[in-house]
Parts: sequence; structure tokens; C-alpha cells
Amino acid sequence: MKISALAKISLALAATTILTGCHTDMWVQPKVKSQEKSKFFADGKNTRMPVEGTVPVGGAKLDDAYYTGYVDGKLVKEFPVPVTKELIRRGQERYRIFCTHCHGEIGDGKGMIAQRGFTLAQPVGNYHTDRLREMPIGHFYDVINRGYGTMYPFGARIKPEDRWAIAAYIRVLQFSQHAPLEDLDQPVRQKLGVTTAQATKQGPLFTEVAGFGAATQPAPAPQDTTMTMNEAEGGRL
Ligand code: HEC
Repeated sequence: MKISALAKISLALAATTILTGCHTDMWVQPKVKSQEKSKFFADGKNTRMPVEGTVPVGGAKLDDAYYTGYVDGKLVKEFPVPVTKELIRRGQERYRIFCTHCHGEIGDGKGMIAQRGFTLAQPVGNYHTDRLREMPIGHFYDVINRGYGTMYPFGARIKPEDRWAIAAYIRVLQFSQHAPLEDLDQPVRQKLGVTTAQATKQGPLFTEVAGFGAATQPAPAPQDTTMTMNEAEGGRL
């Protein structure tokens, strides 16, 4: 029987594949898999720890205030980063991602899961207490970084800059529920019937960010100023 040229080529190809494919030297070779035991080192580990004191490139965290919220064992009272509108906005966004489900949109500890059966030895923290209003800002950074009581730490998930951003936003929330009258801008004062200081002072940055009215925007008519924190920004603070 005559074998066609095509069949010959196919056979040759198959033979080459089978014969050369049988090499297992790449597969069976001296190597260690992660977490596997090894007899090579006396301690039985197959990888080495970095030499003590090793600092990763760009990883020397020398600025205690920025990285821990403490200086010489004391909570910092001042932000180690400039508090800008962008920082606060970022904090608002991060807060909504990481904190609202427990702490609620305004930080009163009435987040969805706190309301719906989430029970802990301690109730979820409420930011609107005198103790927390007077707490140095470093405390909020530290709570995010290392956790607090039954609240787990977020240090592994939220980077330092964002921890400060969230801390700044917590101050906004505190302010939103406890604003001194003289710090409210005109439409809000009008709504509250504060006549003495009307239209004399623009609200501070925090009020502006919280959605009570930006300096650049015309003040809304008095009947439109019934805005609460939750209604601000079209219902999505
Ligand atoms: C899974 C629910 C949960 C989440 C998510 C959560 N917390 Fe908490 N938080 C708690 C609980 C519970 C407490 C009270 C802990 C205690 O007193 O032991 C608390 C307390 C606090 C306190 C008060 C600390 C004090 O001095 O009393 C702050 C501030 C705080 N959390 C900030 C945050 C921030 C910021 C986030 C988001 C990055 C966050 N939490 C996310 C549950 C949560």
C-alpha cells in the first residue's frame, strides 16, 4: 500500500512531538514551591527572611506623624498633610466604601448592617460625642490604621494618605452635626432663623464640601435650603 506524502508528513510530525515531548527535565527539576518544606536550610524553610533592618526601596517610614498618627507617643493634633477640598472629597468617597455600612452616612453608628442585626460586644462607634469631637485627629487615623476595640484594623486596606482623607471627612461629619451658628453660611442661617449674622460670613470650607452651598454658586432661595446632610448633593451625600 502506498503511503501518501501527506500521511508521511503527519507521521513524522507526530513522532517528533511524542519523542521530544517526553522530556521531563523542566518539570522534574530541583526547585522549591512556596510554603513547601526544604532540607536545604537548617530551619526547614525554603525561603529566607530579609536581613534584619532591611528597608524596602521607598519604604523608610520615618515620618511618625504621617504613618502612625503619633509623635513621641502622643496623638497628633494637626494634620500632617494639607487639608484640601480634594482630600476631603477623597475621604468622603473612601468613607462610603469602607465605613458607612457600619457607621452610617453621617457617622452616627447607624449604618445598614448595624441596623439590621449586626451585633457586637460594643455598639458601632458614634462620632458625635464630646469625647470624639475633642479627640486629636491622630486618633481617627490610628483607629483606621490599627482598629479599635472590636473594630478591625483597616491599615492593610487603606493607605496612609487615604486614612488622613477619611479622618478629614470624619471632621466634616462631626461639623455637620454640631456646627456653631456663626459658622453656618447665610441660607442655612436664614432657614434656622439666625438673623444677627446673616450674609456676613461665608461658611468655611467644610460646610461648602458638605454640600451646604459652594462659594461660587449663587445661594439658593430660602425655601430651597432645607437641605440636610443626606439630601445634599441630590440625595447622595
Ligand atoms: C464592621 C463594622 C465596622 C466598620 C466597617 C467600621 N467600623 Fe469603626 N467601629 C465599629 C465598632 C463596632 C466600633 C466600636 C468599637 C469598640 O468600642 O470596641 C467602632 C468604632 C469606631 C470609632 C470610635 C473610636 C473611639 O474612640 O470610640 C471610630 C473613629 C471609627 N470606628 C472609625 C471607623 C472608620 C473611619 C471606618 C472606615 C475606614 C470604620 N470605623 C469602619 C465598627 C466598624
